[in-house]
Amino acid sequence: MEKLIVEGGKPLYGEVRVSGAKNAALPLIAATLLAPGVHVLKNVPDLRDTRTILSLLKELGAMWRRDGDTLFIDCTDIVYDDVSYDLVKTMRASVLVLGPLLGRLGRARVSLPGGCAIGERPINFHIRGFERFGVTCRLEQGYVEAAIDGRMHGATVYFDIPSVTGTENILMASVLAEGTTVIKNAAREPEVGNLIDMLVGMGASIEGRGSSQLTVQGVETLRPTTTEIIPDRIEAGTYLIAAAAAGGEVTVNRCCPEHLPALLEKLTEAGAEVVVADGSVTLRFDPQQRRLLRGVDIKTMPYPGYPTDLQAQFMALMTLSSGICVIRETIFENRFMHVAELRRMGADIRTEGSNAVVAGRGPNGLSGARVMATDLRASSSLVIAGLAAANRTEISRIYHLERGYEDLVGKLTGLGASVWKEQE
Ligand code: EPZ
Repeated sequence: MEKLIVEGGKPLYGEVRVSGAKNAALPLIAATLLAPGVHVLKNVPDLRDTRTILSLLKELGAMWRRDGDTLFIDCTDIVYDDVSYDLVKTMRASVLVLGPLLGRLGRARVSLPGGCAIGERPINFHIRGFERFGVTCRLEQGYVEAAIDGRMHGATVYFDIPSVTGTENILMASVLAEGTTVIKNAAREPEVGNLIDMLVGMGASIEGRGSSQLTVQGVETLRPTTTEIIPDRIEAGTYLIAAAAAGGEVTVNRCCPEHLPALLEKLTEAGAEVVVADGSVTLRFDPQQRRLLRGVDIKTMPYPGYPTDLQAQFMALMTLSSGICVIRETIFENRFMHVAELRRMGADIRTEGSNAVVAGRGPNGLSGARVMATDLRASSSLVIAGLAAANRTEISRIYHLERGYEDLVGKLTGLGASVWKEQE
């Protein structure tokens, strides 16, 4: 296995180009199952997770080829097959093929994802929604077997929690269902909007984009289309937080500043200078002024609230502040796995349930150490801490990072960081 070495204490200067969003690429790749023919997806990041779902599609009979960041996916010959536990345990988002397979074939057999480091992560909302469409879902031997004779019928589906992949899965099932579907308390994340744009381009009829109520009129068939994946707001936010932590001046290009309202507000509140332009954000924080970094409270919420996927990264930043802050994680029940590792680097953090109190120890409060990545976003939190710490940090199990950050070493090196990989 590989580890990441970070020689910290250097400010970051320069520009970084954001890749396509992982959490848009996964549902949009799954949505190609809905229609025979060759679909074109542009700005697709080359990540461990996108490679996983593409191998899943290949098992189902799809063929694909990549030309740079453009994917051509032919879903003419889709066959019914199990989606194995081995695949789903590596990536929970594999459940996103359930909706399109039910629309295309009327049946699907997918391993239940099981829990992961950040929480139990059930899919009961997904299953309840499919049952509203007339689908029979049986849970046996760790698999969910979903089937319907004939065509699904539309229904009203209400989400207790605005589940992102739940909304996406039900949406993908509804577009070929007979009649009208209304999704209430739907997720409003930009990635859901990207999926809606693709489905409408395929011939679907969907109203309410961007709102928490979506209305779908089912159609008989759909056709392939060309869609561009939106920029990854979580990757963009990670680099902006890294710039605040290390100090310097970083411009994040090809991003959508309007997808990061909460983070830009919190970075400004913390004392960074944030300049928004068309398709880019520049963050400035004078390295000599880092002692002025202020403690800022955050509470993770569904979009457009502060994103849970940027909670760990912001916590690393707050350990460097000259104040105290409270970080509340309301989306997942166990998303503080990075706390123990940050403590190893000298951070003063106390947790109580879903609350963490961070007592900032100033810009020199962290020192390099050997730490371990536990999940995707916790890993990026440790990279940020390493960039700010005065000496060497070694991060093991970096396969977590490779799930969601394209060319992290190249992009950070381009900003002047001393970062490289070594064999464990
Ligand atoms: C998506 O996960 C993202 N993944 C996650 O990003 C992100 O953290 C999360 O949304 C929240 O924004 C993808 O889009 C592939 P949820 P998802 O369903 O859809 C509970 C990353 O780092 N819930 O919105 O799985 C659930 O347990 C990943 O890129 C149920 O109880 O999250 C959680 O507490 C991590 N029953 C809450 O809802 C269900 O059927 C929100 O989960 C579904 C969810």
